[in-house]
Amino acid sequence: MSQKLQVIKQEVIGCEKCDLCKTRTNSVPGKGNFKSNVIFVGEAPGRNEDKNGEPFVGVAGKKLSAALDEAGVSREDVYITNIVKCRPPNNRVPTSTERETCQEYLKQEIAIIKPKIICVLGNTAFNSLLGGSEITKFRGKLVLKENQLYFLTVHPAATIYNQELIKVLNKDILKLFHLITELKNNKKVKIDIDYTS
Ligand code: URA
Ligand code: SF4
Repeated sequence: MSQKLQVIKQEVIGCEKCDLCKTRTNSVPGKGNFKSNVIFVGEAPGRNEDKNGEPFVGVAGKKLSAALDEAGVSREDVYITNIVKCRPPNNRVPTSTERETCQEYLKQEIAIIKPKIICVLGNTAFNSLLGGSEITKFRGKLVLKENQLYFLTVHPAATIYNQELIKVLNKDILKLFHLITELKNNKKVKIDIDYTS
């Protein structure tokens, strides 16, 4: 792992900057390949993640892994993290204060990894990173903001009781890696939403 990411990981593990530190079992730093072309950003750790200290290791994580598998991508090849690094009690949505307090870590993860695309998983990440809402309307789209590309899709947890959304997630992840291949080959990609214009 990159030295700088290792430093952030240790900071997250010991972080007491917001009240979520009081109720967590373990902080959950981002995990994965620091050379990844893509960072997946979820909402917050759930019960399993809080227990293990690793992101997306519960049922939602299985859905994400399955979608990656279908696209022929190994979890080891990508980097996975969350908007907030500690579990909110009863899995409530993290407050804006908690998100703002935690955002420095994500900013640093992005600055170090410099992903070609940030994959936004669900409404909380969509709202925190791009001020958006109604992810089901905007999923599948490629967004440009301040020189960074974002790809929008549904949260893997939303697919747990919804077979239709599993297909949507799998299809989106396939498109995501297709876009990454195009970018690696210096091909032009179609930007659906441009926040800079
Ligand atoms: N849901 C998330 O948003 N993040 C995780 O790490 C696990 C479940
Ligand atoms: Fe620190 Fe983020 Fe955990 Fe709050 S959620 S204690 S800011 S690591």
